[in-house]
Amino acid sequence: MCFKMKQLITVILGLISIIACSPEFQQGALDIGLLGLAGSADSVGIFSSTLHPLLVANCGSCHGLNQSPKFAVTDPLQAHNTLINSNLVNLSNAAASRLVTKIQGGHNSFSTALATQIQTAIEDWASQLQTVNGGGIPAPPPLEATFSSISQRILEPKCVGCHGPTKAASGKRYDTYAATLGTVHVGVPTDSSLYTECQSGQMPENAPHLSAEELDVIYQWILVGAPNN
Ligand code: HEC
Ligand code: HEC
Repeated sequence: MCFKMKQLITVILGLISIIACSPEFQQGALDIGLLGLAGSADSVGIFSSTLHPLLVANCGSCHGLNQSPKFAVTDPLQAHNTLINSNLVNLSNAAASRLVTKIQGGHNSFSTALATQIQTAIEDWASQLQTVNGGGIPAPPPLEATFSSISQRILEPKCVGCHGPTKAASGKRYDTYAATLGTVHVGVPTDSSLYTECQSGQMPENAPHLSAEELDVIYQWILVGAPNN
């Protein structure tokens, strides 16, 4: 009897260790850990039940995968990060968000009622975040003269929609470091079309020009050798 009980316990312990060591279990644990570290799990979750559905429904046909900025793709994490990284939402002043003012200013003959709906959804997102996270509103990564910053703040949100895997206008792509070097003359920003096209205001096409600060980090990054940093 006692022997059987011991056997049973051994079998149960064996099963637990098999489950805990399975790649699925570890992957799950890893996902939770990574989201916790990024600090944005709460924000992405709230976004996916407030603003995201509104954007997918009204803006997804153009700002899905085929129009920059790509903030209305079906993957909430990607949409969330594009919005934050390109400063299209202002979580402390929803009415001042570019998403709202763009519609108010008349975009594709959308109604101002839609602008109000978007504003309300942003307010909802911000207030839920306040409750869950004690006000921990995610800040966009700093704009600095490194490839990762330029990629996250400028290339991904403002160029990759036309220069990426789905569409590569003029054969140019900005979705990887290697591809980005295709329009860079290392050390000479004024001979790099990545810089000159933006500086002249030709690019990004049909969108507001890059700011002086954005142009400056591209200039500095190319000048110091366009490192993969
Ligand atoms: C029929 C296609 C289409 C739809 C639908 C659409 N857009 Fe756009 N959007 C564009 C195009 C084209 C541009 C680039 C030209 C421009 O800036 O107007 C753009 C650019 C933008 C920009 C970035 C440029 C800027 O001025 O800051 C924002 C923000 C934006 N749209 C918001 C929205 C929102 C919010 C929705 C949904 C409510 C939406 N768009 C739906 C076509 C569309
Ligand atoms: C709405 C689509 C669109 C967006 C967004 C866009 N481009 Fe372009 N880009 C084009 C098209 C179309 C061409 C080819 C036509 C042309 O040269 O004017 C082009 C051409 C270029 C060229 C090559 C010019 C040449 O003559 O060799 C560069 C460099 C470039 N884009 C950089 C950028 C950068 C950097 C961004 C983001 C800051 C950007 N583009 C955003 C559509 C876009």
